[in-house]
Amino acid sequence: MQQTQERSLPIPDADSAAHSDRVASHVRSLIGSSCISFAEYMHAVLYTPGLGYYAAGATKLGASGDFITAPEVSPLFARVLARQCATVMAKLSSASILEFGAGSGRLAADLLARLAELDALPHRYMIFEVSADLRERQQTMLASAIPEIFERVCWLDRLPVEHRGVVIANEVLDALPVERFVRRSDHVAQLCVALEQDRLVLVERPAPAILADAVAEIEHDLGFTLADGYVSEVCLAAEGWLADLAGLLHEGVALLFDYGVNRREYYAVDRDSGWLRCHFRHHVHANALALPGIQDITAWVDFSAVAAAAAAHGLNILGYVTQAHFLLDGGLREELAGFAELPLATQLQLSSQIKFLTLPGEMGENFKCLGLSRGPAGILDSLARANRANSL
Ligand SMILES: C[S@@+](CC[C@H](N)C(=O)[O-])C[C@H]1O[C@@H](n2cnc3c(N)ncnc32)[C@H](O)[C@@H]1O
Repeated sequence: MQQTQERSLPIPDADSAAHSDRVASHVRSLIGSSCISFAEYMHAVLYTPGLGYYAAGATKLGASGDFITAPEVSPLFARVLARQCATVMAKLSSASILEFGAGSGRLAADLLARLAELDALPHRYMIFEVSADLRERQQTMLASAIPEIFERVCWLDRLPVEHRGVVIANEVLDALPVERFVRRSDHVAQLCVALEQDRLVLVERPAPAILADAVAEIEHDLGFTLADGYVSEVCLAAEGWLADLAGLLHEGVALLFDYGVNRREYYAVDRDSGWLRCHFRHHVHANALALPGIQDITAWVDFSAVAAAAAAHGLNILGYVTQAHFLLDGGLREELAGFAELPLATQLQLSSQIKFLTLPGEMGENFKCLGLSRGPAGILDSLARANRANSL
């Protein structure tokens, strides 16, 4: 159904191509004489220890990698976030911060540096990172970027039983493996990965009950049956992730940032090929079977599903805003005090970073922040003024 190579993509260097061949062999061994679900494929090519995109040595984030995230674009993202963390932690005793999936460690470094300036350092800064490779990179980076605060940072092998403070996850939900489905007139099919003359191809098989039920619930929410041939994604893993988050958040706020939309937008009639995106050296495309293990695979987030799962596990929905509103209402202006006195080159650099973070055609509209809370969290300016939680 889908070719394994995108002709327009850059050619990987010899080492990367050899690594991708090893990952493809691993995928072939998983498939055997049958097929694996798309979520199993995505999990294998992203997270297999020593092989997967996130679990092996390639540079992933930044200009020399495959994609760029808000904290990598500008420290202003972390600085505004620091103000929100300080507000939450001021109401709690011995509050800590827990970051899921810390990437290069850039966000943690800039956030802690700003919290030190605000005299609002957390008791501890905990990182829960599934990738051993990224964990090592984060340790090296943070030890050199913030040596005087480094002792407050720790890496967790398992989630804390009880957390009081702030939870942060930037572009983690979009990295959870998704199932892909095709609506057929009389049934729901699951897209799976199989072999055709040794090439990876997508095939359909009848959806297992858990996926068919999820699609039935989506159609119930929409109030209509999706059209024959409609292809989209469902992140079944999000429910468990939210259950873990709700289980540990004893008191405080969780801020989840990602590109995503509400359920009506996610399953809009004209969105009939889904929201899957692959990133290879800053080229964005939709062929997830290309370049196994050396490209990122992500899917936009259905924030209605995330909010519903959070609420089902007892969390309050504090707010749902665009990234632009989160930054503009959360103190971006205050973070730019003294802008006029900066050298012209720095002003130009900051202006272009702000545009990238806030303009609708860049990261401003597509990226959202969903704020969840437990206990008396109070109001966060970043989430309150343009809150569109009632659209979820
Ligand atoms: C797209 S990167 C984002 C990195 C970073 N947060 C940033 O904004 O630059 C996704 C990150 O989430 C991590 N990750 C994926 N699934 C995870 C999970 N279930 N728990 C914790 N981290 C996870 C990946 O290893 C990676 O560090």
